[in-house]
Amino acid sequence: MIKRYAFGTPLTTGAVVEQLPVSAEAVPYFGVSHDGDAVSFTIALDKDDMIFGLGETLRGINKRGHLYRAWNMDDFSHTENKNGIYASHNLLLFAGEAKCFGVYFDDPGEVEFDLGYTRMDTAVITSKNGDLDVYVIEEPTLIDICRAFRGLTGRSYVPPKWALGYIQSRWGYASSADALRIADEHRKRHIPLDGICMDIDYMDDYMDFTWGKSQIPDMKALTDELHDKHIRLIPIIDAGVKLKEGYETYDVGHEKGYFSKREDGSDFVGGVWPGPSCFPDFLRADVREWFGREYHKLLSQGVEGFWNDMNEPALFYSMEGLQALKDAAKKLLDEDAPLPAFENLKHIGGALANNPEDYMRFYHELDGKKVRHDKVHNLYGAHMTQAAAEGFKSCDPDKRFLLFSRSSFVGAHRNGGVWQGDNSSWWSHILLNLKMMPSLNMAGFLYCGADLGGFSCDTTEDLVLRWLQLGVFTPLMRNHSALHTREQEAYRFSCWEDMRNILTVRYALIPYLYSELVKAALTDGMMFRPLAFDYAADPMACRTEDQVMLGDACMIAPVYEQNARGRHVYLPEDMLLVRLRSAADFDLVKMSKGHHWIDLELNEMPLFIRRGHAVPFAAAAECVDEIDATKLTLLGWLDGDTTLNLYDDDGYSAELDLANGLHEIKVCVRGGKAEAAADGLTLDASRLIIGKD
Ligand code: GLC
Repeated sequence: MIKRYAFGTPLTTGAVVEQLPVSAEAVPYFGVSHDGDAVSFTIALDKDDMIFGLGETLRGINKRGHLYRAWNMDDFSHTENKNGIYASHNLLLFAGEAKCFGVYFDDPGEVEFDLGYTRMDTAVITSKNGDLDVYVIEEPTLIDICRAFRGLTGRSYVPPKWALGYIQSRWGYASSADALRIADEHRKRHIPLDGICMDIDYMDDYMDFTWGKSQIPDMKALTDELHDKHIRLIPIIDAGVKLKEGYETYDVGHEKGYFSKREDGSDFVGGVWPGPSCFPDFLRADVREWFGREYHKLLSQGVEGFWNDMNEPALFYSMEGLQALKDAAKKLLDEDAPLPAFENLKHIGGALANNPEDYMRFYHELDGKKVRHDKVHNLYGAHMTQAAAEGFKSCDPDKRFLLFSRSSFVGAHRNGGVWQGDNSSWWSHILLNLKMMPSLNMAGFLYCGADLGGFSCDTTEDLVLRWLQLGVFTPLMRNHSALHTREQEAYRFSCWEDMRNILTVRYALIPYLYSELVKAALTDGMMFRPLAFDYAADPMACRTEDQVMLGDACMIAPVYEQNARGRHVYLPEDMLLVRLRSAADFDLVKMSKGHHWIDLELNEMPLFIRRGHAVPFAAAAECVDEIDATKLTLLGWLDGDTTLNLYDDDGYSAELDLANGLHEIKVCVRGGKAEAAADGLTLDASRLIIGKD
């Protein structure tokens, strides 16, 4: 059951698809207090209460014990002290002996979540502007709460099936030659690959929807050539439009008044990669329509997927900030006693990027009213995602395209996926990647993943290999790194064959992963779940955060420490360990509920299958198009007859429905023999362990 409570004058955020009537009662569970515009919601916490949610945030799965802030921010250093990064997913789930409910704060501005930080026994959630809807969700279990939340906020985006393939990316890929070389280096070693991301350097002078003719003389020829190799090109699009007369996107945006404006009506200008840039007012439907159609310039060249970036929006500086810096520098040059002037210059320089004052300098139009940016800051990226998705639809309504974004808000999960932003080549970030997956799923984002191998800092061979072993399970499986860091394509390393072998596991699992993704979308379920969601009565499982559930059948537990040759796992029930070296090389070990040490050499990764369940496994393939989903081996430990439901479709049609080949295959295992209620599917049950011991 969901109830809506309104405070102040709530703005339309686009998060919710079902308009509920406002309840006249007082909001339950929380004490409400006001301080100026701000409104706070306070709740006492029992000793063992857990708090889940907040989607894309740092730290643990159980969010209790820290201070978080919903304020989308371009932050490239994901350290523990940070209160927030690129996204605002204001959903909390409270779980404890006397609590089981969810609450969503539908507020497009700044919200602070003090979750037992100031006082360990109290959580206080504060909306700075005080204009919001609060939805309280009461259901018997945490999974049911998330399902109800998705009922409220709409069905999750499902990418085309090829987007579950391995994607290679790097800041610096700029030309046809780069893309073809990457394709070739993978194909000649039989390292699987389905996509190559182009970063900002492919553009002509960092201008969106252009490409440098010297780097890419013929875009269509490039996408065709890659397509013949079953590889898709995935260009980046940034939120800021370069301010340059004669550049069509800028000229039209400026002439039609599509850019966000200052109070005096002039276009707000901020610096990003292209230098001084203007920012489309994505909150306006007509602007989204226009910007969405700009994607056609690349779609018509055979592009089928994009990543949207810098859409918090990131601001390196504003023209006003730059002027203040110049003035301070001049003052320093002119002064006799330079110390205070120097301190002032340092302060202004340090506060230039993503400055809160700059976010108060421009305006949007929402619900027919002029709204200052900071009041709706967290919506910007989500509305850019919407613009792109609408553009894809106006180009080809029958086709699914790949789209993932850096910034997001609840609601964007209907239109695209997300990546977890600029992580680092640190071992702790493997764990961070893992922990964010279920939290993102709670908020509705199913297609997600992190920069495998790490974005900033120089990586190491073993880090890339171990990280790929987690990436095998994340729907977005992309290796991405920053300019000037160590090159980290799989083929660069002495252990590239181990990396290739691990990638074959990904392709073997795609029938399962795709099925679980589609199933989660269709049933408003979660592909990744904390153990606490599935084993709520098991205190050990509730406190385990370095293992997560994946789909109906599996649990994953990656190695995330350098030089480790195994790891500890807690099995909340009997499970089958599949110790994998490749799609063709693995062993199966039956393990009983409880604590175990698992030996795992550097080239080995674990997958745990719950007793009584089976996982379909395909033969190795080098691209998604080549996966033979009609011949599947079943892995599992079965005591008796069992049934599993496998979803599949044509992998690209816009609507997930029966007309487009969506089908649910019931796979039944009876007396050790597997049967599928679908023609043309061969099932091999030889990897099933049947029987009691
Ligand atoms: C941002 C993105 C990163 C990208 C870089 C250059 O930092 O998060 O992925 O490589 O910009 O475009």
